[in-house]
Amino acid sequence: MRIADFALERYFARWEFAVEYLLCASDVEAYPMADLLRLADPEARRLWDDLRLGYTESTGHPLLRAEIAGLYERVEPDDVLVFAGAEEAIFCLMSTMLGPGDHAVVTWPGYQSLYEVGRAGGADITLHELHEADRCALDEERLIASLTPATKLVVVNAPHNPTGMLPTRAEWARLTDALSDRGIHLLADEVYRELEVDENDRLVAGADAYPRGISLGVMSKSYAMAGLRIGWLATRDRELLDRCARFKDYTTICSAAPSEILALIGLRARDRVLARSLRIVGDNLSALDDFFARRADRFAWVRPRGGSIGFPRLVGVGSVDDFSAALVNAQGVLLLPGSQFGHPGNHFRIGFGRENLPRALARLDAFLDGPRPS
Ligand SMILES: Cc1ncc(COP(=O)(O)O)c(C=O)c1O
Repeated sequence: MRIADFALERYFARWEFAVEYLLCASDVEAYPMADLLRLADPEARRLWDDLRLGYTESTGHPLLRAEIAGLYERVEPDDVLVFAGAEEAIFCLMSTMLGPGDHAVVTWPGYQSLYEVGRAGGADITLHELHEADRCALDEERLIASLTPATKLVVVNAPHNPTGMLPTRAEWARLTDALSDRGIHLLADEVYRELEVDENDRLVAGADAYPRGISLGVMSKSYAMAGLRIGWLATRDRELLDRCARFKDYTTICSAAPSEILALIGLRARDRVLARSLRIVGDNLSALDDFFARRADRFAWVRPRGGSIGFPRLVGVGSVDDFSAALVNAQGVLLLPGSQFGHPGNHFRIGFGRENLPRALARLDAFLDGPRPS
């Protein structure tokens, strides 16, 4: 298989562990393992203490799948398949579902694997572009109009990376009804779910919406545990899930035994874990509101409706690529220019899941107030 480079991941490979301030990370400040173990209930603690480092069940630990199923209204443990992060789930699903002659529609700009894997497999991909002029809203009527008889899959990431877009419940219902009527699968990439700015805006999960809806979840973002590399697909379409399981035999076969138990502990204590994440992103979003209000001459800002990232635009002279390169050199603060999404609009991704965001913004302020390069 030949596949284009994953531009964003290559950019992070170069910079992530080399800079002081990662002002474009998408995950929430990593949860300390010692704190997590203190949240374990007696059963999970016993599983951890007695853990043996053998292969694990290829579909995922039964208790973990039960815990994941409990996140949804209409999902049974057998409707869940555990993967090494959301990324493996995307790779297996797209490889299983899409090939030559198939068509898929994917929200864009977006996480590259959501369209690149299907493209590499020979499928025809329509990118559903979100526009700043529409406050980055999903245009479900335009999306529905782009469906063709060959459309097998629609992919919507919400809350969205990188814009923070979240459809209204009414828009979501119109889209899921249209897809259900046409027998088209929906992959709802919900890795930022539960980080909605207003929890009343939380959408019906993809797996709950209709039988061909698929939810993609992960421990990395809202649950602040990217290092576990535990993600999952949940869908009532068991035949599809079975095909994904057969594909996974060629990738990781099964999950890491310690990670499964730690994910179980994290999900069983999810109220505490999420409260911490919501506090961090809530405080940081307020700091960003202040920053962008003060700096309205330099940045256009569509406030995210959920998640831990947004997609502001640099206004005035200069390209955001040059701006970002100068900023990281001068102040050790990393932004992610829109060009890494293949997006031409002088936008950049800003992440607000890290606790050092106020210090990173102070550095950005200093940079903006400093001498301009001649
Ligand atoms: C929208 C989206 N989907 C999937 C992923 C992959 O998640 P993970 O790295 O935890 O596998 C990411 C990671 O940034 C993402 O932003």
